[in-house]
Order: sequence, then structure tokens, then C-alpha cells
Amino acid sequence: MVRHILTALDLNGKELWKLFDRARTFKRAPEIPVFSLLGKRVIMLFYEPSTRTRFSFEAAVDRLGARFSATEDAEQFSSFAKGESLEDTVSVCSSYGDAIVLRHKVNGAAEQAARASRVSIINAGDGSNEHPTQAFLDLFTIWEASKSGRFPRGKLRILFYGDNRHSRTVRSLARLLAVHGEDLGLSIAWMKFSGPNESGKISDVLFQELKCTRDMMCWNGTGDPEPEDADIVYVTRPQVERHAEERPPISESARINLAFAVRLPEHAIIMHPLPRTGELSPEVDKDERAWYFKQVENGLHVRMALLEMLLVKN
Ligand code: NCD
Repeated sequence: MVRHILTALDLNGKELWKLFDRARTFKRAPEIPVFSLLGKRVIMLFYEPSTRTRFSFEAAVDRLGARFSATEDAEQFSSFAKGESLEDTVSVCSSYGDAIVLRHKVNGAAEQAARASRVSIINAGDGSNEHPTQAFLDLFTIWEASKSGRFPRGKLRILFYGDNRHSRTVRSLARLLAVHGEDLGLSIAWMKFSGPNESGKISDVLFQELKCTRDMMCWNGTGDPEPEDADIVYVTRPQVERHAEERPPISESARINLAFAVRLPEHAIIMHPLPRTGELSPEVDKDERAWYFKQVENGLHVRMALLEMLLVKN
């Protein structure tokens, strides 16, 4: 049966261990060539802009000895421009590739594609719905930090700050942490969702889902961030492409800057899926608590491990 990765919950706890273990091996020895996917081809179908996700998937394919075909703007350069349906495009790509990495503007597009595909669909972000591979690399980053003894208090206190409502990375990561955090030895004291305006709040549906899944404090609100007691601050940019109306620019007090970072506990980490716009000041980069470029690096190793897991028959 063809295995798809449409949501962050499509891997179970045991598989996440396996994934992270393999990603660690790749990370420890980046110079050792791997040929586990020799002869395979991965198709990258991107209907939305991307820097990290697409380039890291392409680099991952290369490092595993496989090849890829990519369209960086499928809206313009695939037969979408002539009116072809997603189903037909995906069905055609199934004849040429062993997996399809798909990014799309529409919520649920990955699931729609999976119904028409004869090969694995990997969801690289569909609207404001899910971004599972980002969640895997985010969780890997937290897992590694925890394993190294970074968080002294045991139970994690996580502040999601930014446009939580429209962010697929927040949704995927929060669900993944709630469902599988414990499987990876990560217990959670609380998750707080906040932001400079109403879009800091996640939907009631997601809020209820999280509260029902895990016994933890969940808080949903707005206001300036209060970082003093957080182990992890996960920042997101305003997802302007998903806003119905224009919002005012981010005020200085709502920006994650050095003044904010120094209020965090020393062991805390600041995460961001990137790209950043005005919400996270570059002056924070030199602070040891800035971990967003570590996430970027982990993305390569985690995506290598995922492609291997899906495409190598055991
Ligand atoms: C994110 C996305 O596309 O959802 N970017 C990424 O893949 N790292 C976050 C964002 O665009 O804000």
C-alpha cells in the first residue's frame, strides 16, 4: 500500500523515534555519502513560494543518491496554467516519480492529491491546514535539545507567539506535541497561544482538540508576550496571504527583540519556522537562545530520513 504523509499525525511514536534516530546519524556524518535511494526520482510540485522546504527536499534527494524534477511555480509552469486539475497533474506525475512533494494554497489539497496518486504524497504545506515535515523537524529540534539536558525542569512550557490562527506550522507542531510528545520523552506543562492581535488565538476546534488529547494547561489569548517562564518560544510571521484584510505593522513592543530575549530563562530556546518579516529582530540572532537556524539545518537531515523511510522497502 502507498504511504502518504498528509498530516503530522501520520507517523506514530515508534516511527518518530526511528526517524529521529536516522536523522541524527545523517547529522553526525554529513560527509558520508548515502546511496539508499539510487535510481529513485522525487517530483517537487510547488504551487506556493518556498525557500527552505523545497531546497532542503532537493538537497535531501541528492544526498540519498536519487534525482528530482521540480517546478518552483506550478501555477505558472505546470499544466495548471492550462486548466489541468490537481488530480490529473498528480496522476501524471505518479508515472514519472516515486514520490511527490506537494505544496499548495488550498486546505486539504494534499489529501485530494493522495486520492489521485499512485505514489507517496508528502504534504509540504497545504493552506493553513498542515505542514507535517516542518513539525517533524521542529519536534526533532526540541527532542535533541531535551536529550542534551537543556530543559532543567522536566515538564516543558511552550509559548506560541505570532499568527497562530493562520499558521499551518503551529497547528501541525501543537498537534504532534500533544499526541506524541510523551512517546519521545517530552512531557508538557503548558502550551500558551498568544500574539499581538486576535490572530494570536488558535481556533476553538484546535484548542479543544489539544485540551482533550493531553492533560496540560492550554491558554489562548492576545497581548504582549510574557516570556519569563517559557522554555520554548515558537514565533511565527503574520500570514498575510491568508488574511482577509490588511493588518497594521507589528509594534515595537510586540516584536521579539533582544530586550525580549534577555527576559527568557537562560536555557530557553527561540524557534521560528522562517521566513521572518518584522516580528523577529535580526539582533536576536547572536543570542545563544536563537535556535531558528538550527531548525533549518535539521530540516535537511529529517527530510532525508523521511524520504528513506517512505521509499526504501524493508
Ligand atoms: C512556513 C510555511 O510555509 O508554512 N515556512 C516554512 O516552510 N518553513 C512558515 C511561514 O511561511 O510562515
